[in-house]
Amino acid sequence: ARQSAVQQAETEARAEGLRLGARQLAEAMEEARRTIGMDLHDQTVADLSRISRNIRRFADRGGTMDRELQTIEDDINHCLRELRMIVDDARPSVLELFGFADAVEALMDRSASQLQTPVDWQVIDDSGGLIDRMPARSQVALYRIVQEAVNNAFRHSGAAEITVRIATLGSRVTIRVQDDGLGMSSDLRRHASGIANMRTRAALIDVGFKLKSGPKGTEVRLEIEGSTLLPKRESETP
Ligand SMILES: Nc1ncnc2c1ncn2[C@@H]1O[C@H](COP(=O)(O)OP(=O)(O)O)[C@@H](O)[C@H]1O
Ligand SMILES: [Mg+2]
Repeated sequence: ARQSAVQQAETEARAEGLRLGARQLAEAMEEARRTIGMDLHDQTVADLSRISRNIRRFADRGGTMDRELQTIEDDINHCLRELRMIVDDARPSVLELFGFADAVEALMDRSASQLQTPVDWQVIDDSGGLIDRMPARSQVALYRIVQEAVNNAFRHSGAAEITVRIATLGSRVTIRVQDDGLGMSSDLRRHASGIANMRTRAALIDVGFKLKSGPKGTEVRLEIEGSTLLPKRESETP
């Protein structure tokens, strides 16, 4: 019995080690994305904006803008728009500035504006902004999960309605991303990489992940236990 207790302790230690490793990796990746986002913003976006302004100035001076030059200007502006989106994704600045619910709202607004058909979408926060009081690392992870779920809903579901709802349920907080679209096959639910990433991100911050999907639509549900909500006090760890 003692032998197996030791073995179990070793297994648990190994699992915890892997978990910690994965967690550090996730944090390092988030940090890298942020840095790349800032570099792209400060350097590349600034450079392209300057080139675009120079073309404009050149054209303004000549009075006419030749077709080829116009094409180049359009291309650069297209590049700039794409790049701004990449930067926004890499650095969830809205999350820091306005908090979780508003950041999700900005994300949905952006997704909705890119669709041909109108979608009725909303963010409802009944938790009194509890997510904003979580440790920053957890907030970013939750945002990334919701981002993927929202993107999926807008991109794949063909829904007329998409709702993100943050609510408290006893000591628990839940975040639900719901659409009334066409649903997804059970095979996709298990093997698709976007889904797997959401699951992994949730596991790394001890958040429950559930995916329900059927002919009436899809729901991604995150369940956050009360204890996970509190910012950890570093001084208390042994
Ligand atoms: N909310 C949804 N409604 C309908 N289908 C979905 C939804 N989310 C995902 N899917 C389907 O599952 C597939 C896999 O999703 P995902 O792993 O996120 O990959 P990706 O978004 O890159 O295609 C999608 O291509 C789509 O067919
Ligand atoms: Mg996806």
